[in-house]
Amino acid sequence: MNRPLSNAALLQKDHQHMIHPLHHTAGHADGRVWTKGEGSHLYDADGNRYIDGLSCLWNVSAGHGHQELADAAYRQMTDMAFCSSYAGGSNRPAIELAERLSTIAYPKINSFYFTSGGGEATDSNIKLARFYWKAKGKPGKVKVIGRDWGYHGVTFAAMCATGIKGYWPMFEPRIPGFSHIPAPDPYHYPMPEDGSSQGIAAANELEKEILAQGPETVSMFIAEPVQGAGGVIVPPDDYFGRIREICDEYEVLLVCDEVITGFGRTGKMFGLEHYGVEPDLIQFAKSITSGSVPLGGIGMSDEIAETVTSSKTPWMHAYTYSGHPTTCAVALATLDLIEREDLPGQAAAKGEAMLKKLHDALDDHPRVGNVRGKGMMHGIEIVRDKQTKEAFDADFGLGAKLTKALMDRGLYTRVRSEVICNAPPLTTDESTLDEMVGIYRDAIVEVVGG
Ligand SMILES: Cc1ncc(COP(=O)(O)O)c(C=O)c1O
Repeated sequence: MNRPLSNAALLQKDHQHMIHPLHHTAGHADGRVWTKGEGSHLYDADGNRYIDGLSCLWNVSAGHGHQELADAAYRQMTDMAFCSSYAGGSNRPAIELAERLSTIAYPKINSFYFTSGGGEATDSNIKLARFYWKAKGKPGKVKVIGRDWGYHGVTFAAMCATGIKGYWPMFEPRIPGFSHIPAPDPYHYPMPEDGSSQGIAAANELEKEILAQGPETVSMFIAEPVQGAGGVIVPPDDYFGRIREICDEYEVLLVCDEVITGFGRTGKMFGLEHYGVEPDLIQFAKSITSGSVPLGGIGMSDEIAETVTSSKTPWMHAYTYSGHPTTCAVALATLDLIEREDLPGQAAAKGEAMLKKLHDALDDHPRVGNVRGKGMMHGIEIVRDKQTKEAFDADFGLGAKLTKALMDRGLYTRVRSEVICNAPPLTTDESTLDEMVGIYRDAIVEVVGG
């Protein structure tokens, strides 16, 4: 029998033939070729074991290696792997999934359209918002307001809604009509001088932007309940209530991007449940199948669904894989798992305990500026100067150094320039979580001293 190729040998072939998302040749030079996932761990082609500190890409929330998800895919693929869901066609798993989602999503969200991932869901919502306002006789409402550090995907409109500026330069010009307001980041957002709270002041930035753009031109505001890829930014508790009021006042749809926060990550099934606010539209992906097969989608309020279903002009959004029976069958099996193992409850309890341990281990470190989180998503922000919150110069290469120091200690996660992101599977056991806290501290000390 041929011996399996080593990590280095596979990587050499990869360098010759593969272009990666976020392709960066230097960053990939020492890459890992992953060959096995088991619970909260990943193994590379040389058999080295790593803790999966980000559930791969915030998506493998139930952990690796669930036989029941494979069985669900096998059963459905044996019966019928694919069929069209264009009007005139449908299938049992997609119908059942849409019905099931209506019972767990926000009360007024009861109709769903499926995609294969999060970016397509963003583009679908941007198109749906335009469709809706046209149908309502307000065709001028086309603009999209997002937030700095918001992340919504790489399809073109999603890239424009994204507020992480590094995603733009080589793809300019962007679509006109997209703008961004500051993130509600309690660590960086200035404390208002008029005595109002940071949350209200940060939300009022939306009102200012709507007025600057002209309310009659703005279709929607898009926001993640907790900003993930932008560095785990947890808004103040009073932020989203005020956002909802502003959206209502100016007839702007509130689109909640639950691609990371959906299905338990923050300690609730959906992220805005923490703030007692209902959006008009949601979008989801990632954890709906625990990352095992690609599936995303959007959910719309009854009023928006009624506008779509009663429109004389069809919803010309013909996506081949919308309502894919196999991925929907896997999603149904994942929802069984999420509910049976109470993943939101696990995220709430373990996430809170881990946040406390991170505070205990890191708050006194001279270069740890901020430790934050909600449920099982945490951010550790490293600064050069704790008083001024000044960041390290880009030349220092903080992110790359931290990533390497973590990898050297057997922990695989992503660092957004100066913020270490922590989002392991919600099923991760306590001793592994404790081990991770120690690794974070040791890696930080190695890279920035202290
Ligand atoms: C909040 C959010 N929205 C959208 C996306 C895009 O999802 P996808 O990469 O599946 O297109 C992501 C991906 O990380 C995300 O975190």
